[in-house]
Amino acid sequence: MARFTLPRDLYHGKGTLEALKTFEGKKAVLCVGGGSMKKFGFLDSAVSYLKEAGMEVEIIDGIEPDPSVETVLKGAEAMLKFEPDWIIAMGGGSPIDAAKAMWIKYEYPEITFEGMCKVFGLPKLRKKAHFCAISSTSGTATEVTAFSIITDYAKGIKYPIADYEITPDVAIVDPDLAETMPQKLVAHTGMDAITHSIEAYVSTANCDFTDPLALYSIKMIQTDLIASYNGDMSKRASMHNAQCLAGMAFSNALLGIVHSMAHKTGAAFADCGAHIIHGAANAMYLPKVIAFNAKDETAAKRYAAIADSMGLGGVSIEEKVALLIAYLRGMNKELKIPLCIKNYGADSYPAENGFVSEDIFLARLPEIAKNAIGDACTGSNPRIPSQQEMEMLLKCCYYNTDVNF
Ligand SMILES: NC(=O)c1ccc[n+]([C@@H]2O[C@H](COP(=O)([O-])OP(=O)(O)OC[C@H]3O[C@@H](n4cnc5c(N)ncnc54)[C@H](O)[C@@H]3O)[C@@H](O)[C@H]2O)c1
Ligand SMILES: [Zn+2]
Repeated sequence: MARFTLPRDLYHGKGTLEALKTFEGKKAVLCVGGGSMKKFGFLDSAVSYLKEAGMEVEIIDGIEPDPSVETVLKGAEAMLKFEPDWIIAMGGGSPIDAAKAMWIKYEYPEITFEGMCKVFGLPKLRKKAHFCAISSTSGTATEVTAFSIITDYAKGIKYPIADYEITPDVAIVDPDLAETMPQKLVAHTGMDAITHSIEAYVSTANCDFTDPLALYSIKMIQTDLIASYNGDMSKRASMHNAQCLAGMAFSNALLGIVHSMAHKTGAAFADCGAHIIHGAANAMYLPKVIAFNAKDETAAKRYAAIADSMGLGGVSIEEKVALLIAYLRGMNKELKIPLCIKNYGADSYPAENGFVSEDIFLARLPEIAKNAIGDACTGSNPRIPSQQEMEMLLKCCYYNTDVNF
């Protein structure tokens, strides 16, 4: 049965962090990441607003980027001791996603990580706590989505937990929090957002309710991302909304194989010196996947509609798809994101010799391709790749070669 689910309330605009003052409850646990929310004063503000609302507050901090299964288990234990009736997660996608998984384990202490990962198979939540998400990056939109991405570092794999049960009850989209993002984070999260809207628009689960959100957010990102990257704070605020609209689209239309590939390559080369940051992975793979998916007639028409809505020109469908690919490649260059894995260097900047050597890439390719095909995001992609096609596609993403299959 088709379903469209969003948070019950969404506070948006400058200063809306204050909405926390109006929350009703006894105990709130506040989950944050490595320190940016504390450093810029948002953590203290949130604590004082919740206290003003009459709540006892406990903090779970230090949630790392790309949170691990262990972090989730540790946080759930703290929640079981404190017994909050509100879980408030504030920061980038990482602390919010970790808090969502902690929430599941808090409500169902017996559930295993494998149990959580059953796609749309979670038991009913909200028997112990409600959930509020406050985003400080402009990309994942996890404040409105039914997803949480947790990394199993032993396997080197990111697992999506997907269920409308973990769509937050309340989202706060306050652009003040996004103003402190460093340039590189703006670039990566912004390209994550446009990947969300483009994948949602061509997904086999797209519908009348998700299409307008996807198309409108693509246009906003087209006008706002580069300016936001270059320091325009009104565009930064607009990007904070745009990524959220993209999230509303993909949470309900689902994603595609750009995300499958990003999930399965993100931690696969961590032993070679670095993660492939989620947004950067998407930015590198999206143009290749568009070329692959555009061999499907319906998908090609949809990409052409995106190009039309962006005003990119072109007459034939093929021409429009090519212009969309060229436009996205241009965005990568302006945002200093590498074009392919081979050139993914230190600090995620383009480099002649990246940190993933050809030998290591080729040795791990069959396993990564198999895992990517098995990712939860593959099912809604317009074209389902075979093992051989996925390997060829990943090679194009490594060498930046053309997709002609
Ligand atoms: N749940 C979903 O629907 C969904 C969708 C896409 C991606 N993800 C996942 O989200 C994670 C990435 O999240 P992210 O891109 O938001 O980054 P992040 O949460 O991993 O944060 C990256 C870094 O930015 C810092 N930071 C965050 N906000 C800041 C701010 N306002 N000012 C200064 N520094 C700030 C953090 O402290 C951290 O060091 C990945 O694990 C990805 O797989 C989830
Ligand atoms: Zn994403």
